[in-house]
Amino acid sequence: MRIDIITVLPELLQGPLTSSIVKRAQDKNLAEIVIHSLRDYSTNKHKTVDDYAFGGGAGMVLQPQPISDCIEKLLAERKYDEIIYMTPDGEILKQTTVNALSIKKNLMILAGHYKGVDQRIRDIYVTKEISIGDYVLTGGELPAAILADAIIRLIPGVLGDETSALTDSFQDNLLSPPVYTRPEEFKGIRVPDVLLSGNHKKIEEWRDEQALKRTQQRRPDLLD
Ligand code: ADE
Repeated sequence: MRIDIITVLPELLQGPLTSSIVKRAQDKNLAEIVIHSLRDYSTNKHKTVDDYAFGGGAGMVLQPQPISDCIEKLLAERKYDEIIYMTPDGEILKQTTVNALSIKKNLMILAGHYKGVDQRIRDIYVTKEISIGDYVLTGGELPAAILADAIIRLIPGVLGDETSALTDSFQDNLLSPPVYTRPEEFKGIRVPDVLLSGNHKKIEEWRDEQALKRTQQRRPDLLD
């Protein structure tokens, strides 16, 4: 899979996308992430990419020309399955959307900044608008990194344990059960006996029970 990310602040994406599992995925050629700096597409001498909003009001708007030039260049090179715009007014990101995106070949992600991008870019190019939650960040870079991370870890071969992505919270609309490691007793609290019993059937039953209990208590909406 290839993911192209278009941004005014490439340095904000460098950290999250060049460490740990996402880096390993790229090193193993399972995923390629290419970050494009919008300023490289600015045609004015100060390399600005934003301007005042028509109609007034606080905050700058990303101009359409640099974004359009960048998108057109990429579209001339390959076909994209989706052109995604990260924005607080998009659909809230869910595991089902991540699953669907993880089987695509080429994705383009546009990170907004300031007051966002000129509406015409959304009208002309964007095929999907995604929000990572009902709160506003300074830009779409961290949301873009979150989306890329969630997608990449699902690509077969990226996670060491092939089954672990399937047992994540949300994959079956249930939260994950509690987990424990050594020591068997810590600050007076013992690991539940069943986990030490070696009885795999009982352990599975206990985990299913705990997952259901946790979901009922914390996220009953997932069970509807
Ligand atoms: N840009 C700013 N806030 C955002 C959010 N919550 N989701 C996606 N993009 C954003």
